[in-house]
Amino acid sequence: MENLIHRRLALQLGLSTTISTGSLSSWAVAAVRPLIQKRIPSSGELLPVIGLGTNNYSPKTPAERAARCAVLERLTGSGLKVIDTAPAYGESEQVLGELLQELGNRPQVFIATKVTAANGTREEGIAMMEASLQRLKTQSLDLVQVHNLIGADVLMPLLHEWVDKKRIRYIGVTTSRDAQYPILKRLMQTLPLDFIQVDYSIGNRGAAEELLPLAQEKGIAVLINMPFGGRQNSNVFGQVKEKPLPEWAIEIGITTWAQFFLKYVVSHPAVLAAIPGMTRVSNLEDNLGAAYGILPDASVRLKMEQHWDALRSSNV
Ligand SMILES: NC(=O)c1ccc[n+]([C@@H]2O[C@H](COP(=O)([O-])OP(=O)(O)OC[C@H]3O[C@@H](n4cnc5c(N)ncnc54)[C@H](OP(=O)(O)O)[C@@H]3O)[C@@H](O)[C@H]2O)c1
Repeated sequence: MENLIHRRLALQLGLSTTISTGSLSSWAVAAVRPLIQKRIPSSGELLPVIGLGTNNYSPKTPAERAARCAVLERLTGSGLKVIDTAPAYGESEQVLGELLQELGNRPQVFIATKVTAANGTREEGIAMMEASLQRLKTQSLDLVQVHNLIGADVLMPLLHEWVDKKRIRYIGVTTSRDAQYPILKRLMQTLPLDFIQVDYSIGNRGAAEELLPLAQEKGIAVLINMPFGGRQNSNVFGQVKEKPLPEWAIEIGITTWAQFFLKYVVSHPAVLAAIPGMTRVSNLEDNLGAAYGILPDASVRLKMEQHWDALRSSNV
């Protein structure tokens, strides 16, 4: 199996097929193999397909804080970039700001945070973004997204002004609720958006019905929240406990269920990156595997869906 993977990697890297790829040491392959990246349609900028979600970045103990610090250090060490946070995520922005400063790796990351205007005023938005800049200890934000579409209409002109002032690089909107999909669709049809962020996983494919095709048509980048179905019991790992990976998945370099789930999500042509929540380096190492190798094509994606559906019905 290792030789097969080496041979595939060698082919992707354009190495001579006359080289005995089986003799390439693991470290040599790791050193040269590229991360899978996709382009932001509005700019052409490349980002790796796996990022980090931080709605659980309010550590309660020094050990928990150290674990999150280790995740951030490994994140940039491995070339990943996107970090998604929000003022609504407890201490997340503050903790990220402090840890990125300690590690000195702010320049290597792409910070996506969020803003809302619950009372419908632009002043709320201004105060919230100024506070985010302070907490994140940065001069500018890579992406600001209207969280759960709250105040999108009033905030959009403000976000554009901040782009003009170079305090923000990209703008977007987020949701993780089916009930908001029609409003999100309207915003995508009427506003110039760089990004949307939406929930999508192999167990929750509703976004693929209309939103993802519309994003592709409009040239809007898509970040995927809850690629494992979230932190609750509904999370996809519960369905595959003690179930082996299918052989055809192993043959395309997928070595764990987490990589199966992430490669399914990021192989959708509209999806730029998934932002799984990760508070442990071991999970980051696992998920990093989904940012290497090859992505499933349409026929493999269909096989993945059929396999998942069969597993679900056998578990009921
Ligand atoms: N409306 C919105 O804007 C919205 C809504 C929801 C989420 N979000 C964003 O999306 C991000 C992701 O969503 P989420 O964190 O709720 O759900 P998720 O990414 O689907 O699941 C996160 C859970 O999966 C676990 N996990 C990660 N990698 C794993 C692996 N390799 N093996 C086993 N378990 C693994 C994590 O554990 P550990 O923590 O122990 O590593 C965590 O418990 C959030 O952090 C947030 O940034 C945005």
